Parts: sequence; C-alpha cells; structure tokens
Amino acid sequence: MTTATTGNVRLKKWVTEWADVFQPDHIHWCDGSAEEYEQLCRALVDSGTFTRLAEAKRPNSYWAHSDPGDVARVEDRTFICSTEPEDAGPNNNWRDPVLMRAELNALCAGAMRGRTMYVVPFSMGPLGSPIAHIGVQLTDSAYVATNMRIMTRMGQRALDVLGDGDWVPCVHSVGSPIEPGRPDSSWPCNPDNKYIVHFPETREIISYGSGYGGNALLGKKCFALRIASVMARDDGWLAEHMLILKLTSPAGESKYIAAAFPSACGKTNLAMVVPTIEGWTAETIGDDICWMKYGRDGRLYAINPEAGFFGVAPGTGFDTNANAMHTLSGNSIFTNTALTSEGDVWWEGMSDAKPARATDWRGDAWTPESENPAAHPNARFTAPAAQCPSIAPEWEDPAGVPISAILFGGRRRSTVPLVAQAFDWQHGVFLGSIMASETTAAQQGPVGKLRFDPMAMLPFCGYNMADYFGHWLKVGRATAGNKLPKVFIVNWFRRDEAGRFLWPGYGENSRVLKWVFDRVNGTADAIETAIGYLPTTGSLDVAGLDVSDADITELLSFDAAGWSEAIPQIEEHYAQFGDSMPIELTEQLHKLAAAL
Ligand code: OXD
Ligand code: MN
Repeated sequence: MTTATTGNVRLKKWVTEWADVFQPDHIHWCDGSAEEYEQLCRALVDSGTFTRLAEAKRPNSYWAHSDPGDVARVEDRTFICSTEPEDAGPNNNWRDPVLMRAELNALCAGAMRGRTMYVVPFSMGPLGSPIAHIGVQLTDSAYVATNMRIMTRMGQRALDVLGDGDWVPCVHSVGSPIEPGRPDSSWPCNPDNKYIVHFPETREIISYGSGYGGNALLGKKCFALRIASVMARDDGWLAEHMLILKLTSPAGESKYIAAAFPSACGKTNLAMVVPTIEGWTAETIGDDICWMKYGRDGRLYAINPEAGFFGVAPGTGFDTNANAMHTLSGNSIFTNTALTSEGDVWWEGMSDAKPARATDWRGDAWTPESENPAAHPNARFTAPAAQCPSIAPEWEDPAGVPISAILFGGRRRSTVPLVAQAFDWQHGVFLGSIMASETTAAQQGPVGKLRFDPMAMLPFCGYNMADYFGHWLKVGRATAGNKLPKVFIVNWFRRDEAGRFLWPGYGENSRVLKWVFDRVNGTADAIETAIGYLPTTGSLDVAGLDVSDADITELLSFDAAGWSEAIPQIEEHYAQFGDSMPIELTEQLHKLAAAL
C-alpha cells in the first residue's frame, strides 16, 4: 500500500510509543490516496465488514452493519478527565485523569494484536485555514480509516500542513485483539466495555471498544466539539454543534446562518433546504459542526471543519431532502441501513415503495411483512460534502463566512413557538442555555424524553457548561453589538393534543429563514413578548402554504402558561451549576419569571 511520510519527530515518537502499548502486527501511515482507499475497501469486503453495492445502482459505495451492541454514541461511557471535577461540570461524567490513564493503559495493552494500526492524519477545516486544526488518529479499524477519508481532509496533505507543528492526539481501538486460531468478527468491537475519554487539559482523546460513528470517528464529536470547545474557550472562539447555510434573497443579497439542533433533529435537512418561497435560494456550508472566529472586521466568521456528511439515513428521501439523496448517489458508505436484493441500500422514509426482499441492519432476511424496521433508526450515510448539489462555492474558503444569525432549535411538542428573536446577544445566550429537546436514537438510551440540551451541546461540551455560558457571554462582549449575529429560537416540531404536527417543516422552513433574514435587515415586523420578538401574523410569508390560520396562530402564539410551568424546571436546571452560573443568566431568568 502507498504510505504517508513525515519529518515530525514528536509525531513519529508518539506513534512508536502507542505501537509499543497496542502491539499491532503492522503499522500503516494513511496517505489519503484513492488507491489506498480502494485497497482498504477491498480488504473490508474480504473481511465481511463491507458489501460492495451494485455499480449500476450506487457506484463505489459500500454497506456495513454493526454489532447490535454498537449502534450509537454512548453518553454514559463518555468521560471528561480534567484534573478538577468542577472543570468537567455536572454536564459531564468526570473521572480522575491519572486513574483513567492507568485503567486505559491496562485495556490498551496488546489490544491491537493481530491487527494493523492505521495512522490517520487529518485536518479539521480547509487545509491551511487559520481557523482549521490538525489531528492524528491511531486506529485498528480500516472501517474508521475509510470513513475518516470522507469526513476529513485526510492523509499526506494534512501531514504537509502539520509540518513540525502540534496536533490533537486521537487514539482509537475497537478493543478486540485477534486471538490466534479464532476468526475475526465482521464488526469487531467490545460492546460491554466502551470508553470515550477526553483529557481537556492536554487536549487528548482515547476511545476504546466502539467502532461506530461519533465514538470512533474521532475528528467529529470528540475533537471538533469536546476538545475544540475547550480550545475555543482558551483562545476566544466558538466550536459549536451547528449547521451553516447561505440564504440568498430574490434581490441577490446573501446571508450566512448557523443553527444548533440536537442530534437527529433535522440539521442535515435544514442545511440542504430547498426553499418553497419564490425567488429564494439556499446553499450548504456544513451540516453538523461550526467553528467561528472573529475576523478583522469584528464579525464572526465560520468554517465547517468537516469534509463529509455522517447523516441519519432513516427519514431521508427525495421528498424530504433531495440534495442529500443526490449527495449519497455514489462514493459513500452506509452503516446499519438495509441492503436490498438488488445490491442497493434502503431505509424507512427513503421511498414509499419498499424493496420486496432485503437484508436488514442486523443481517437477517427482511420483507415488507417483517415486524422489525429494515434500517436501524440511527443508520447513517457517510458521503463527501463536495458531492452535494447545494454546496456553496465558498464552503472551503479558508477565511470562513460571516455569520448574520444564529438559530437554536429543539424538538418540542409544546411551549416553544415556531420562531422568536432574542432581544440581544445576552438574551440569546439565555434562550440557548434553557433549550430543551426530546431525545432521539442518535444516543443510546430512551427516545422522546425531554431534557435540557443547552445550545445542543449537552453531550459535546468538553467542560463545565456554566463556564461555557460564561464564555458565550464573553464572546459577545468582544465586539460591537451591531457586529454580532442576531439570535433566534425555532421549533419545527410543535404538535396539537392529538399528536399531529402543526408545521410541515422541510422546504417550508424557508419561510422562517426569510423572516430571520428580514429581521437581520430590520424589515420584518414583530411583537415583543416575555421571551423575545415573535412574528406578527402578517410578517411571516405564508403565501401558498397549506396550513390553517388556526395552526399558524397557535405556532406564533406566546404560550405564557407553558413558559410559567417551565420556570421551576429551568431553575432546577440552573441550580445544578451552583455558584458557577453566570449572574447575567440568573438575572435573565428572574426577568422572565417576573414578566410572566
Ligand atoms: C451526530 C450526532 O452524529 O449528533 O452528528 O450524534
Ligand atoms: Mn451532530
């Protein structure tokens, strides 16, 4: 296989030290070439991890299904190992770093026996961008190496940018050495013994036991959010769980909007939205993560640190997200979807017509009569962002794009209106800090349970969330108020008592984006309520929309009773942070309670 080279002495030493611990049979430095990718995929086909899809259906694409015990992020096995527990905060599982290192060293000893250790250098962000950072992942999973090639700028080019510099060390093992004489599993992992560990002070990641998604593709949640949030706190920028989109009006004016939603709440759909309103266009910059730094003009500039989409497949179809469907038409990897008898993939929500025969995500025979879903609800596609028809030409601009508005959204049956604008930055931080959402299949555990998920960062903030709120307030003080993005809350998921969704969502969300755009320009009307500015009925463009007046009124109404009921829960949410809670936010809460 072709191989990458580096003159970085510290990197070579680090690799050797870990190889001594893991004791792999081979070491391979990934150069990121197409040739190497093909060889890795071929090996994965040979080992039974990958099934190559029919070339005529989906060229250069593969299907994999995981161990049934390794299907989602494991928040209860995710640890922040700061020296002081207070620095991890009540939002994280804290472990003593010294003890954790000892525990991991014992687990990692010999853990790669019989396997190859891949050295995967990668850039989070366009190569050489002043907002980007380099990481190097060690992994004994070729599946992870192939996914990393889609999700990041991976290989020799990342080493060239790194030169003699610093990188974020990312160590990963599936925790399943190959015993001599025993065949390897098609999805090696250690389902009962997973550790997703972060050392924020030394900016290190060690992940053990899982081969899946955010547990194993360490550039994504572990680096670009948990470790990067700490780097951002220390260096005055923001690392957020946000999509980035570009919205252009019929007059040709463009604005960039960043939006935070919890996992599996439609970020990919909104990032690739096709507006239903005449003359408006939307383009994609990123669908999951946003790094923002101040530009020389005092505005916040954002990059998408990723190079691919690791999106939730179920529910994605030509009717809901045509851009995503085109993106994954080839050169993609599918995990825990179904495999049809014709050699293509399928999942619930992809099409009304179901395949007559398929292999489900567990690897069992499936027909439309089967009781179980064909795809796991957290089945994923890994697809190159460059293949997205709506990708904006500037998506790889090293300077980033200037952000005009930030949206905070959750999955809420009640209380939260379709859209509201915060009074100012500080109030926006308050609204973000009290964001709650119903849980989804993206994390292991119950689905549909309401939990506070501030700024959609609850599972991803690498330090005490009270300090994170303080950091947001500080970022807001670092520039003139008129240069800051305007902040909004949105909720596409309101339902009536019978459980019916009040808002059609998808392309119709462009109506809300238009209101946001016009509010930034100061040209849309609003009424002031205790939680912010709500659209007047006339200011939300509902021309041609098939939603009753009563539903629109409900969607845009201020639910004083619902918010009053929520106050004690918000107080409890804040109370867990004790004295660390910024006084500005407790004052905002008192103000809201008084106004209600
Ligand atoms: C993701 C997640 O994979 O948020 O993006 O879980
Ligand atoms: Mn996400």
